[in-house]
Amino acid sequence: MQAIAIHRNGGPEVLEAVSLELPPPGARQVRVRHTAIGLNFSDINVRNGGFYLGDGPQFPVILGNEAAGVVEDVGGEVTGLRTGDRVAYAGTGGLFFHDTGAYAEQRNLPATCLVKLPDDISDQQAAAMLLKGLTASVVIHRCHQPQPDEAILVHAASSGVGSLLAQWSHHLGAKVIGTVGSAVKAEFARGHGCDHTILYRQEDFVAATKKLAPQGLAAVFDGVGKDTFIPSFDCMRPFGAVVNYGNASGNVPPFNLMLLAQKGCLVLHRPGFGFHAATPETRAEACGELFQLVRSGAIKVEVSRTYPLTQVAQAHADVEQGLTVGSVLLIP
Ligand SMILES: NC(=O)c1ccc[n+]([C@@H]2O[C@H](COP(=O)([O-])OP(=O)(O)OC[C@H]3O[C@@H](n4cnc5c(N)ncnc54)[C@H](OP(=O)(O)O)[C@@H]3O)[C@@H](O)[C@H]2O)c1
Repeated sequence: MQAIAIHRNGGPEVLEAVSLELPPPGARQVRVRHTAIGLNFSDINVRNGGFYLGDGPQFPVILGNEAAGVVEDVGGEVTGLRTGDRVAYAGTGGLFFHDTGAYAEQRNLPATCLVKLPDDISDQQAAAMLLKGLTASVVIHRCHQPQPDEAILVHAASSGVGSLLAQWSHHLGAKVIGTVGSAVKAEFARGHGCDHTILYRQEDFVAATKKLAPQGLAAVFDGVGKDTFIPSFDCMRPFGAVVNYGNASGNVPPFNLMLLAQKGCLVLHRPGFGFHAATPETRAEACGELFQLVRSGAIKVEVSRTYPLTQVAQAHADVEQGLTVGSVLLIP
């Protein structure tokens, strides 16, 4: 079977097509033929390297943490799944940079990481929403649940995770302000949960946010990191929640903890989807909630671009340059 591997860290040019023999699934494993693979910004971080605390992955590495597909074979001890079932997964139980392998036509996976797909959720929707949706879920259920009429700031509100957070917060009744990198992205964000948008590369987002939310923000949801996180403290109401879930612009620089006290006794969160809904039962429940949000129309999952798996280098370049909105898929 064909897969995409890296043998060293670097730019999109290090992504190489490789041919591999896949062994039969182990006793507790399931072989899945991928039909849609979710591209996540973390794939770019793993490709670039230099992102880890402690050891990074051992080369060669097949990238990718998320896909949907069809069960092709099941190990002898697997119950509850059979050939032909439609399934999806986001991570397989370990740290996201150790736990990769989705950029492949097929993969043997622990049965416990798979979620069965309902008939009304397509493979592409599932691959576009599972990892990003579980990230939105950890932010909303474990960090700050937006309340009616309170003001929330979502950075990069047209991004994969950002657009889900904006829509979910709007659905819960919050006033949602989103920062975005272009006018096109602003229009997308206003169609996906944002009541107001700020072009944060052209205007000072702190001053603009203070105008829109003079009482201060109840929460900021930030996947941008270095460029936005610490400045956002100046927009908060006392005891507001500052949530950093990602680092698209680079890691948040070290800062003095006293700053949180000085800026209004802020509450700091750094969530990761892998620690949320980590058992098969809680994952099924969290995914069920995501499917219901999509089914009800509260959240639209937008696949802005699909690329053949063989054109993964172009897909990485586009995502890395911030050219995409919503979710991007690779099709084997
Ligand atoms: N904690 C977790 O469990 C978890 C899970 C999933 C993702 N994440 C992280 O969350 C972040 C966003 O993920 P995503 O899937 O929403 O990403 P995405 O759809 O690829 O969007 C990233 C957006 O970040 C903005 N951005 C700001 N500075 C940038 C820069 N220097 N380079 C590139 N983009 C920049 C761009 O939007 P604008 O043009 O509007 O600025 C870009 O479109 C990533 O850091 C990702 O690793 C964390």
